[in-house]
Amino acid sequence: MTTETLLQQLYDTPEDAILEKIRVLRAELGQQVLILGHHYQREEVFHFADVSGDSLKLSQQAADADAPNIIFCGVHFMAETADILTSDTQAVFLPDLAAGCSMADMANDVQVNQCWQELSEVIDVETSVTPVTYINSTAALKSFCGEHGGIVCTSSNAQKVLAWSWSQREKILFFPDQHLGENSALRMGIAEEKMIVWDPSKPLGGNSIEAIEQAVLILWKGFCSVHQLFKAEHAETMRKNHAGIQILAHPECSREVCETADFVGSTEAIIQHVEPAPEGSKFAIATELNLVNRLRIQHPEKPIWFLSPMVCMCSTMFRTDPQHLYATLLAVRDGDQSHRIVVPEAQKKWAKISLQRMLQLV
Ligand code: 13P
Ligand code: SF4
Repeated sequence: MTTETLLQQLYDTPEDAILEKIRVLRAELGQQVLILGHHYQREEVFHFADVSGDSLKLSQQAADADAPNIIFCGVHFMAETADILTSDTQAVFLPDLAAGCSMADMANDVQVNQCWQELSEVIDVETSVTPVTYINSTAALKSFCGEHGGIVCTSSNAQKVLAWSWSQREKILFFPDQHLGENSALRMGIAEEKMIVWDPSKPLGGNSIEAIEQAVLILWKGFCSVHQLFKAEHAETMRKNHAGIQILAHPECSREVCETADFVGSTEAIIQHVEPAPEGSKFAIATELNLVNRLRIQHPEKPIWFLSPMVCMCSTMFRTDPQHLYATLLAVRDGDQSHRIVVPEAQKKWAKISLQRMLQLV
C-alpha cells in the first residue's frame, strides 16, 4: 500500500482510534524507537514524545541516542541534523516529508557560495570571515560552514557561538536569519554600524565595498514568517492593559520586539523562565502558538497571553499529525524507508564537523 493510500485510510478513521493505535504500536516497538518532539508540535503529537525540547536540546539528544530508530516530530532541518549526528546503524524518520522551514529555504548553497565568491573579491574570506549558520538551514549549508572553518548555532547558544567565531576571524557571515544574528550581536554590545545586511538578490548583497570592509557582521536577509508577525506595538498594548506583565520573545522576532521584551530566549529558555515564576505572574509571549497554548494550560495560576492579536502558527510544524506519526511507526516496524531522512555522504562529513564545533561549546 502506498503512503498516500494508507494516510487516506487513517484520515477516514476516528482520531481516538488512531491515538490508541499509536499507543499500542509505540509500546510494541519499545527501545527500538525514540520519539523526539519540538515544542511547536501540536498537543496530540507532542504527547507521544519521549523527549521534548528546543533545537539544541533535541540535537544533543539525537547525538546521545542509542535507539536504532529516531522519529523526529519537527521539521526537515531537525531530522537532517539528527541524521548527521547519529551513527550509520541508526535511522532517522520525519513523519511528514513536506514539513520544511520557510526560513531555512531563504538561503541555499548556490546563493551562499555566490555570496562567498563575491565577498572574496573584496576581502580575503578564508582568513577574515567565519561562516555561521543557524541550525534552521540545510545540511549543505552546515557542510559549507564546516569546510570553511565555520560553525552552527541555535537560538540558545548564538551569543556563545558568535564569540567563538570572532575569536577565530574578524568577521562573521551569518545566515539565514538576520534577526537572530542582529539581536544576539546587539546584546553582545556590537555597534549597529558594524553590521550590514546581505540581500542575495543584489550585487555585493546591496552593499558598498567600504561597508563590507568595515563590517564585523554580515547578516543574511532571511526571517521567520511566524515570528515576523509580532510587533513592538503589541507589547505596548499588553503593557497598557495588564500592569506588571512580562514580555517574553524568541530571538527570531524583530529587533524592535526583542528590545522591548523583558526576556529573550529559545523555546526551552522561555519555558524555563515561566515555570519557576511565582503564582500571579503575567506573561505575554512572542513565539509559536502551540507552545504558548501549552504553557497557558500547564500554568493556569499565571495568566499567559499570546503577544500578537493574530494567529501565528508554524504551518509546517503543524503538518505532523497523529496519522503521519502512526504511519511512521508502521514504517519503522515494517522496515519501510519511506519516511526516512538520509543526508548525502558528501555533505555529512563537514556538516558533522560544524555541528560538533557547536556541541563542544555548550
Ligand atoms: P528553538 O531552538 O528555540 O526551539 O527554535 C526553533 C525554531 O524553529 C524557532 O522558530
Ligand atoms: Fe522555521 Fe519559523 Fe517554523 Fe521555526 S517557526 S520552523 S523558523 S518557519
